[in-house]
Amino acid sequence: MKGLSGRIALVTGATGLLGCAITRRLAAANVTVLVASRHAEKAKKWISEQSSEYASKLIPLELNLTNENSIKFVFEKIARKVGTPTILVANASLRDGLATPFNKLTYSNFNRLCEVDVAGHFLCARYLVEQLSSDTRASIVFLSSIYSIMGVDQSIYHSGMSPTPVQYAAVKSAILGLTRYLAAFWGRRGVRVNAVLAGGVRSVTRQSDEFVRNYASRTMLGRMATPEEIASAVAFLASDDASYITGECLVVDGGFSAW
Ligand SMILES: NC(=O)c1ccc[n+]([C@@H]2O[C@H](COP(=O)([O-])OP(=O)(O)OC[C@H]3O[C@@H](n4cnc5c(N)ncnc54)[C@H](OP(=O)(O)O)[C@@H]3O)[C@@H](O)[C@H]2O)c1
Repeated sequence: MKGLSGRIALVTGATGLLGCAITRRLAAANVTVLVASRHAEKAKKWISEQSSEYASKLIPLELNLTNENSIKFVFEKIARKVGTPTILVANASLRDGLATPFNKLTYSNFNRLCEVDVAGHFLCARYLVEQLSSDTRASIVFLSSIYSIMGVDQSIYHSGMSPTPVQYAAVKSAILGLTRYLAAFWGRRGVRVNAVLAGGVRSVTRQSDEFVRNYASRTMLGRMATPEEIASAVAFLASDDASYITGECLVVDGGFSAW
């Protein structure tokens, strides 16, 4: 893809299911990737497990999106030690609390998810753009979900399984507003802002066979996504192949939402 080689990217939640694939995809395109995790040791360990083809492009980074002061400090440190990133992949999301039953949800369940996914990523985006010189282009990609644009069909979740919760749909919808606002706010200075609305991604540790069958039968392609398929869309939006795309919310869901 055009315009990726030689750039610096920051990927939040880089050691998670999608973060791993996004990080590898960017590193394979010769991007230096700041591999952000709340725990530096976790990022270092993950990097040490990658093939030498990628590992030299990866830099571990400790970043907690719920700590406002640390976000500012981290961006200042990156600028001093590595250079200014021109790609931000706002991928991290909080899983804690997602299994809380509907009738037990509290303010805190909404607020904590919103802090990580929306407020924390907003601050990352602002600090990144504040460090750019006026003639430097940048690309920000938020990870949202198809549940930002459609309801959650409770019937695909079998008994004993927690359906995707209401606060997740609400927060992922907020990301669409954030994406369009920032795209308009920074467009004239060459910063593109887009979102990927991912459909369900296959994970052998998170999903039962029954759920996978139920979910797959709701997609046009008859299967869940692979992490690499979501990573390809992220890399495309980050690259210069998408140089005239901003404020876009790109659905990558195998047709789940298109019937
Ligand atoms: N998986 C899917 O099917 C799917 C579908 C649609 C959309 N998405 C979206 O795609 C993104 C990635 O999903 P995923 O399934 O790969 O998630 P994941 O495996 O749970 O990874 C998310 C990562 O976020 C990081 N994180 C959590 N709290 C944080 C905090 N306070 N500060 C900094 N980082 C924090 C965690 O990394 P550390 O523990 O290393 O800090 C975690 O590994 C999310 O935004 C998700 O909503 C996923």
